[in-house]
Amino acid sequence: MKKFPDDFVDKLQEQIFEESKETYGEEVFSRWQKPRFMGRMTDASSVGRVTGTCGDTMEIYLRIRDEKIQEASFFTDGCGSSVACGSVAAELATGKEFDEAGLIGGDTILGVLKGLPEEEHHCAYLAAEALQVAIHEWMFQGSKAEEK
Ligand code: FES
Repeated sequence: MKKFPDDFVDKLQEQIFEESKETYGEEVFSRWQKPRFMGRMTDASSVGRVTGTCGDTMEIYLRIRDEKIQEASFFTDGCGSSVACGSVAAELATGKEFDEAGLIGGDTILGVLKGLPEEEHHCAYLAAEALQVAIHEWMFQGSKAEEK
C-alpha cells in the first residue's frame, strides 16, 4: 500500500477543516471539534431519547433539583451537525427552570449555530425534541418518583 508523506496528509486535513469552517461556520466547527456537554450521565434525573427520520438518535440527560436543571449533557450517534446541536441544547438547558427550558426549540439552537446549512436544520430540531422529551419525562415520571 502506498504511503502518503505526512505533510501531504496535514495539508489535506487543513484544507478539509477550512472548507468545513466555511460551510458550517465557526461555532458549529468548534463544537464539532470539541463537543461541550457530551457524554451519557449515569445518574440523570431524566433522559430524552429520540430517533430522527434520518436514523440518528439524540439523547439528552438532565440532572434536576428544585424544578431547576442543574446539569445537562447529550449523546448522539449522528453527524457532526447533530453533535453541535446536542451541545448547544445541553448548554442552553443548564441552569434553567422548566418553563424557560421548555421554550428551547430548534430555532433557538439554530440561532446559536449561525450558518448551519438548511439541509441540516433537522439536527437542531432533533436535539430540541430530545430536550423536550427529557423535560416531559421528568414532569410525569420524575416528579412522581419524588413523591414516594
Ligand atoms: Fe441525522 Fe444530523 S443527519 S441528526
